[in-house]
Amino acid sequence: MTLIVKNAKFIASNTNVGKCPADGKPEYAFIGRSNVGKSSLINALTLQKGLAKTSSTPGKTVCINHFLVNDSWYIVDLPGYGYAKCSKEGREKIRKVIEGYILQREEMTLLFVLIDCRHTPQKVDMEFMEWLGENGIPFAIIFTKADKLGKEKLAGNIKNYKKELLKSWEELPPIYVTSSEDNRGREELLDYISEINKSLDNNI
Ligand code: GTP
Ligand code: MG
Repeated sequence: MTLIVKNAKFIASNTNVGKCPADGKPEYAFIGRSNVGKSSLINALTLQKGLAKTSSTPGKTVCINHFLVNDSWYIVDLPGYGYAKCSKEGREKIRKVIEGYILQREEMTLLFVLIDCRHTPQKVDMEFMEWLGENGIPFAIIFTKADKLGKEKLAGNIKNYKKELLKSWEELPPIYVTSSEDNRGREELLDYISEINKSLDNNI
């Protein structure tokens, strides 16, 4: 049975991980290259179009944004990485925000790494996932913007991506395919989160 999002609300926006909500509720964070569709996917999951700020200009999200779902768990919107047009200082600042959150935030139950399904595997994403592996961070992959490709091209790109991952990983992480335009993958993703919530012993 699919998890029903009864309510979702914005709670806080921070650049300092130490100032994030302190109620200990589990968190699911969304990361990926700038413009990959993190904020749009959060809006699709919660069925609230304006909840997370989206933009066709990369670099929209620069803070750690907490959204509380059903009063029991958080969705966290993180800034995008790998935005080349950002200033060097700007990129360094964002890198620190991302690293601080990922390495220090005990509440982070799982990190979703978003990948644009239209592209061939990119070095910046591969290196980021390797860094996650080195630091023992649990993650799953979400392919975004699936509405932008035909069925065969989509399947081909994902197959190719898995092949590339298997060059450096013994096992593939969980993989989801989504679109914030037609909402595909939404239920599967919510079911996955729901299963993890159930496995945590705080009765969500
Ligand atoms: P930053 O916060 O800048 O890192 O970007 P982001 O990853 O949060 O991306 P955002 O959700 O703002 O989306 C970027 C652009 O892609 C926007 O113009 C969205 O409308 C578009 N977009 C996002 N998801 C989808 C999708 O599933 N399908 C289509 N067709 N467009 C999408
Ligand atoms: Mg964003």
